[in-house]
Amino acid sequence: MAKILVTGGAGYIGSHTVYFLRKSGHSVIVADNLSRGDRANVPEGILRVVDLRDTAKLASILREEQCEAVIHFAAYIAVGESTKAPELYFANNVGGSTSLFEAMQQAGVNKLVFSSTAAAYGNPQRVPITEDQPIAPINPYGDSKVMVERMIELLDQYRGFHSIRLRYFNACGAEPEAGLGERHDPETHLIPLVLRAVLTGKPVTVFGEDYDTPDGTCVRDYIHVSDLAQAHINAVEHLLNGGAGGAFNVGTGVGHSVREVLSAVEKVTGRKAPYISGPRREGDPPRLVADSQKLQNTLGWKPVRADLERIVADAWEFAQRHGA
Ligand code: UFG
Repeated sequence: MAKILVTGGAGYIGSHTVYFLRKSGHSVIVADNLSRGDRANVPEGILRVVDLRDTAKLASILREEQCEAVIHFAAYIAVGESTKAPELYFANNVGGSTSLFEAMQQAGVNKLVFSSTAAAYGNPQRVPITEDQPIAPINPYGDSKVMVERMIELLDQYRGFHSIRLRYFNACGAEPEAGLGERHDPETHLIPLVLRAVLTGKPVTVFGEDYDTPDGTCVRDYIHVSDLAQAHINAVEHLLNGGAGGAFNVGTGVGHSVREVLSAVEKVTGRKAPYISGPRREGDPPRLVADSQKLQNTLGWKPVRADLERIVADAWEFAQRHGA
């Protein structure tokens, strides 16, 4: 069992990963500046409120806590915001990462799991997407993640880092028993917005129904946040056991359209999901589906909650407990 520093552990995916790391017997310290995370997501006693750009403080936490590896989530994630204020994404996502990597070097920690994104592929040439497809982000958020991925590759090459970059598809679902779920402010993601529509009666807007997909709406690979969390545990244990690093897609391999999500919500909740038709949202690729064979073969990972209704049921339970 290892001691692991989790940056961004007060956020959505980070907090689920902390929960499962501890359940697997690992010891965790969370570094989060709480700018977008929630203190309530972190168990008592393990939160260190620190901005990633404070290199000295991070290095002293890593040393004092004798951390053996880092899982790095802390980042801004809003695609729309990144097109309006790209500098925010460079400062926080890229600047924060540079500082963290410097702190890791100072403290002699060289094992790293990094939270990357399917946005790295932009509009993919082929679906399902394999890791060797061209990296071609189409917004500053995606670019900020790609820049950090490149830094990590160079640190692996020149600084003896051992790193795994996980490229997530559409994280969703919740772990309601643990009080954890998706709550962004503002919320932009489909499933929580459809559930909010069910709870409030105010319709969600479907962004485009004229795509070249079976029912005209966009297709995404929805991956349960707890399956995603498990991928991080497999990844960090693989590195701690001396395994090789690299980039891995994390998805189920199955795509669902926006309409299918609406139907799943109606089936799970037993209520109407009110929606209106709107224009396409800028920068939305028609289909994003992962080929995650590499992750399955190398790290022995398998999604066990891939069923869309299961995902929606967990998100629904969380939404009912915590309000829309
Ligand atoms: N959608 C709607 N209405 C809404 C919100 C979303 O129709 O109110 C549609 C979108 O057009 C898209 C699908 O629902 O087709 C999923 O949208 P999300 O905003 O939930 O997720 P994205 O696929 O846009 O984004 C996710 C991650 C990003 C990441 C991206 C990779 O949230 O961080 O995948 O392309 F960059």
